[in-house]
Amino acid sequence: MKTIIEPFKIKSVEPLRFTSHKERKAILEKAGYNLFNIHADDVLIDLLTDSGTSAMSAKQWGGMIEGDEAYAGSKSFYRLEQTVKGLTGFRHIIPTHQGRAAEKILFNIMGGRGKIVPNNTHFDTTRANIEISGAEALDLPVAEGLDPSLKKNFKGNMDLAALEALLQKESPQRIPLVMLTVTNNSNAGQPVSMENIRQTSKLCRSYGIPFFLDACRFAENAYFIKLREPGYQNTSIRDIAQEMFSYADGCTMSGKKDGLVNMGGFLALNDDQLAQKARNILVVTEGFPTYGGLAGHDLEAFAYGLDEVLQEDYLRYRIRSVSYLGEKLDALGVPIFHPPGGHAIYLDASAFLPHIPAHEYPGQALACEIYLAGGIRSCEIGSVMFGKTDPASGDFQPAKLEMVRLAIPRRVYTQSHIDYVVECIGHVFQKRVQLKGMRIVYEPPVLRHFTALFEPLKK
Ligand code: F0G
Repeated sequence: MKTIIEPFKIKSVEPLRFTSHKERKAILEKAGYNLFNIHADDVLIDLLTDSGTSAMSAKQWGGMIEGDEAYAGSKSFYRLEQTVKGLTGFRHIIPTHQGRAAEKILFNIMGGRGKIVPNNTHFDTTRANIEISGAEALDLPVAEGLDPSLKKNFKGNMDLAALEALLQKESPQRIPLVMLTVTNNSNAGQPVSMENIRQTSKLCRSYGIPFFLDACRFAENAYFIKLREPGYQNTSIRDIAQEMFSYADGCTMSGKKDGLVNMGGFLALNDDQLAQKARNILVVTEGFPTYGGLAGHDLEAFAYGLDEVLQEDYLRYRIRSVSYLGEKLDALGVPIFHPPGGHAIYLDASAFLPHIPAHEYPGQALACEIYLAGGIRSCEIGSVMFGKTDPASGDFQPAKLEMVRLAIPRRVYTQSHIDYVVECIGHVFQKRVQLKGMRIVYEPPVLRHFTALFEPLKK
């Protein structure tokens, strides 16, 4: 059979609320043309993020009832610990309420003024946690990762030559660790090859520098390795994932992605002293070491999620359903970032709206129009998120790419929902020449995309 079906049936449903075009126009205006300001109830298909939006399985919900809420020594913690140790091989598993809490603890210990932390591409919370510590967050993606139209296999890779040059130039004391984000979310969800993980690890080891994975989407990355990297076609996803982790000294993890839970994360590592320091901070900021920032029922659901995410029929459906959206859009001529990533399709807003320059925020204009057309919420990942305007001179510095992310929640939407998304975006594409740019009328000092207010330009 050629058709890849959802490998589940639906037991509990959540109704969707339909709105009219007229209603959405008013909603957008009231929200200051910022989709983060829209009530979720006014959204028909929510592709804002794949984080914390997964549907849990009956087994996970059952586990929620079984969750052990003991303050110390919860049975559910030991279940999660055993699962994560089995998967990653790391000695210390430190639960946190989500990924950024693990990052905060890690960089509180390892960051600091004068230090540099390289990554293929830092996610924005990772970057923020590094910068708050006083250190520099350095992105070293491969050049081909920055070309949206190039169809290549592992565009999420680290630029090994650039990393080696950095390690040669700087003293190892300045580089407390090297990170690698799998898949590379800030670079269109592109995967990293096993070879790249192996070589990054080898380079770090030769300089005595610890190597950490940002493992949020480790299972999706493992599936891409199985599909695309020679030698892995007959290897199980668990074995691939274990090999990925075997090259690292630790990882940060947001369970809200490949943990298939709505809340949860962990820091995992081998170094005993570092683990001790991390637990000392954990007790003050998150909670006792056997629950971190989580309830017993969260720990229980997380442990089940980490097993379920490795099931091959799930991953086949997952990766296929994202590429299905990409292929349908591509067939309509809609410019997307190629090839489709693991958790999202990224529209290339510069190519979609070539008449709108970066300083008029083509991604924001496109995301608003897609909402207006069909109640679909996406996320601008371009000059609103990463561009900067100098408050003194008014000089504008654009982002490297102008994109709109259509992130697909796990196990939530069916093929007809995705067909509807294709139809709406196709409709917007038809009338693209009529779209106008945007102007920022308010922006906060940091992370402006969350709360900035906009106005559509008239001309
Ligand atoms: N690292 C990566 C690669 C991420 O994508 C995220 C979150 C985090 C770390 C932080 O994890 O949210 O649990 O604190 N990404 C979400 C997204 C928010 O929409 O891409 P968290």
